[in-house]
Amino acid sequence: MDESQALPQYLSEGLIRTSLLIEPTLGVAYTSNVDDDIDNDNEVKKKNKNNSREKRVVLAHNFRATCLDIKEPDELTAGKEYVVDVIGRYTQRWVERRNHNLGYPVNLDVDYDALDEVQRFALNNCGDPFIESNYGVQSMDFEIGVLDWFARLWDINNHEYWGYITNGGTEGNLHGILVGYQLVKVPLREMFPDGILYTSKESHYSIFKAAHMYRMECIIVETLVSGEIDCDDLRFRLLMNKDKPAIMNINLGTTIKGGIDDVDLVMKTLKECGFHRNQFYMHCDGALFGVMLPFLNQLSKITFKKPIDSISVSGHKFLGCPMPCGIEIVKIEHMNALSRNIEYISSRDATITGSRNGHAPIFLWYTLSCKGYRGIKKEVEKCLYNAHYLKARLNKAGVSVMLNELSNIVVFERPQDDEFIRHWQLACQGNIAHVVVMPNVTVEKLNSFVDDLVEKRSIWFKGGGNQPSCVANEIGKENCACSLHKL
Ligand SMILES: Cc1ncc(COP(=O)(O)O)c(C=O)c1O
Repeated sequence: MDESQALPQYLSEGLIRTSLLIEPTLGVAYTSNVDDDIDNDNEVKKKNKNNSREKRVVLAHNFRATCLDIKEPDELTAGKEYVVDVIGRYTQRWVERRNHNLGYPVNLDVDYDALDEVQRFALNNCGDPFIESNYGVQSMDFEIGVLDWFARLWDINNHEYWGYITNGGTEGNLHGILVGYQLVKVPLREMFPDGILYTSKESHYSIFKAAHMYRMECIIVETLVSGEIDCDDLRFRLLMNKDKPAIMNINLGTTIKGGIDDVDLVMKTLKECGFHRNQFYMHCDGALFGVMLPFLNQLSKITFKKPIDSISVSGHKFLGCPMPCGIEIVKIEHMNALSRNIEYISSRDATITGSRNGHAPIFLWYTLSCKGYRGIKKEVEKCLYNAHYLKARLNKAGVSVMLNELSNIVVFERPQDDEFIRHWQLACQGNIAHVVVMPNVTVEKLNSFVDDLVEKRSIWFKGGGNQPSCVANEIGKENCACSLHKL
């Protein structure tokens, strides 16, 4: 059989047969010269109108590289040599890749050697962490310790919240929105038809996924250049749907620009549109910034003293847990809408998944215990300081750049070369890219990144034929350094 016949159709049309690549490469998007757009539920439309060549996002499986065969172990070595060799090689690769990750928010500045012993146990926190289950190899004491730490951070008393350690920010979003969705259906609350989910167009795809999974009506709201929700547009849309309760998703930091929705303004808008407290539910998606914001600005503080109903953050981002995880906290009064007793686990089912990672709570508990509120605050301040440093250097180099207040995400013109993007593991969207300045991103690393970028730009734009893209639409003309907008 000819090889292309053996491939699924989506791989056979001129794409790379993945297993033929020799070295693993990262699954980042790349661009090619095509005319058509790709549309999906998340309204992802990638058409570069300013460049001469049209860009299209091609999904990551074009790049997915090698497959590591699982070999039958031979009798003498029981497969150990092969395994040790493979892990050794991958460890080297991960160390190198770790040193060049600037685009994805992972804190690599944490040492977990003290927890080596923990991996010997099959820890599973299935069920409600606040109810003792029959399975004893669990870490729920640690889990509740972490939840109490966050309850204090976000100003809610221990007896007023419910929560759990999730598999990541996405699961927290799925949970928070589900609670809101169930809640507005509970007759005791209001005899309204199903609620509508409102979220800005720059929300993370997990929010749209929740709408899709729960078959909710989702209204997508415009954003300002900063990435934060446009409350004028929100007002317009709320007024058109006054008869249905609102499930509001608030972005505490959008993925690409770090735009922070103004909780107070959203609340004011809801109120002015006639939505009483029992006609809206407010979930905050704080994946990265939900941990940072409480340390930054008292005025825009994230606190359950405001009419916030649930907050979700990722645990592997700012806190650097080595396995994906997250924290979800909900006002306890809402939980009856969701939970059911389950005899098999002798617990209550109030979470999205069944079995849950029992190691993650220990790693989180360990980090928080070692760093404390003071240590985290220092890290947050360092990140913001270094983000400003990066912005200043890029500015000086004539690169279009934007940095939102209270953000560590530096947004700038998309580098022209995919190899460069992959080398520094930059996250890109259309004409822009970003660096997330995490605690492990030092000034030296930023210097070496900027030096590399400046050198490459002198090659890309040599002779003036090829010009940097205009990014005024994406980051504002005051931040754009294209030939039209630069002073
Ligand atoms: C704003 C926002 N929400 C949610 C998520 C999803 O978090 P996780 O990857 O932990 O599921 C992300 C991840 O980047 C994010 O940026």
